[in-house]
Amino acid sequence: MSPTLSKKILAWYDNSKRDLPWRVSKKSPKKLYYRVLSEFMLQQTQVKTVIPYFKKFTKKYKSLESLAKINENQILKLWEGLGYYRRARNLLASVKLLVKKYDSKLPKNFEEVKKLPGVGDYTANALLGFIHNQPTLAVDGNVKRVFARYLNKKETKIDFKKLISLNRNSLFITNRNSDFIESLMEFGALICKPKDPKCSHCCLKTSCKHLKSSKKTKTKNEKKVKTINYDIFCYINKKRQIALTKKNEVSFLRNFYLPPIKKMRNNSNQNNWIFLKNYKNSISNLKLNINLYYKFSNKIPQSYYWHSIKSNKEFIPSFTRKIFNQVSTLF
Ligand code: ADE
Repeated sequence: MSPTLSKKILAWYDNSKRDLPWRVSKKSPKKLYYRVLSEFMLQQTQVKTVIPYFKKFTKKYKSLESLAKINENQILKLWEGLGYYRRARNLLASVKLLVKKYDSKLPKNFEEVKKLPGVGDYTANALLGFIHNQPTLAVDGNVKRVFARYLNKKETKIDFKKLISLNRNSLFITNRNSDFIESLMEFGALICKPKDPKCSHCCLKTSCKHLKSSKKTKTKNEKKVKTINYDIFCYINKKRQIALTKKNEVSFLRNFYLPPIKKMRNNSNQNNWIFLKNYKNSISNLKLNINLYYKFSNKIPQSYYWHSIKSNKEFIPSFTRKIFNQVSTLF
């Protein structure tokens, strides 16, 4: 397998990854806690359902050690609504073991990690990759699909253990094994999706064997990608807050807090607004071409509210987070 697969997927990931709350920096002391908690939650549940539970847990219990002190009833109460309650029991048992037996560290040995209750091959590989940067792949449905399409083989015909051991030198070239594992999951979830894969946006489109073999049908069936031009206006105050509103007439992210957005007017003179930058973004099948403007102001229209650019407390769509990132370059 060509080493460009890892490089391209990682480059895509660096630009397009979602801002998920368990993706903390490699050096963060919360890394093990966040990764163990999120991997248990994600075992049978989608990312968007997990996020509020993950936030609820980490708000109440700030560390692996504090979670290890609670009892089964307490964890079940907190888990309420997430389903597959055996995961909650296994999570608690694993966390207690990690704290008491392993001094709050993840063992480095695969068989040892698999002894943790509720940890199978997939979770063990994911944790070893995330925590110790080990060159492994956590092979779930997403990852199977990505490789099966890339090689144009049936998933069931691929021996993943063999594929990994034969291609070790081309897959794990970057020493970013943790990111590579996650980039494959992300790529499978956002681009190489089960239905309606985004082949026209795909960084592997020149080498994907499945796309080559089915090019005609693919291009016919794929949804047309529209590009829409928007102006986004950021009111900013001295407290590093930005004004958000739900009253935007846009076809995407309806009912989410965003800065005011308007369809772009040609050659418009944006009175009193300072141009910050132009950039591209995409949301589902929409391609957005965005001109970002700002002004410092203490007054904002009614129905807007001030949101701290730094605050991570609330769910903010990554579309809006990207805007925060651009605006924070001003400070
Ligand atoms: N599914 C399982 N683990 C995941 C992760 N770390 N990120 C996104 N989806 C996942």
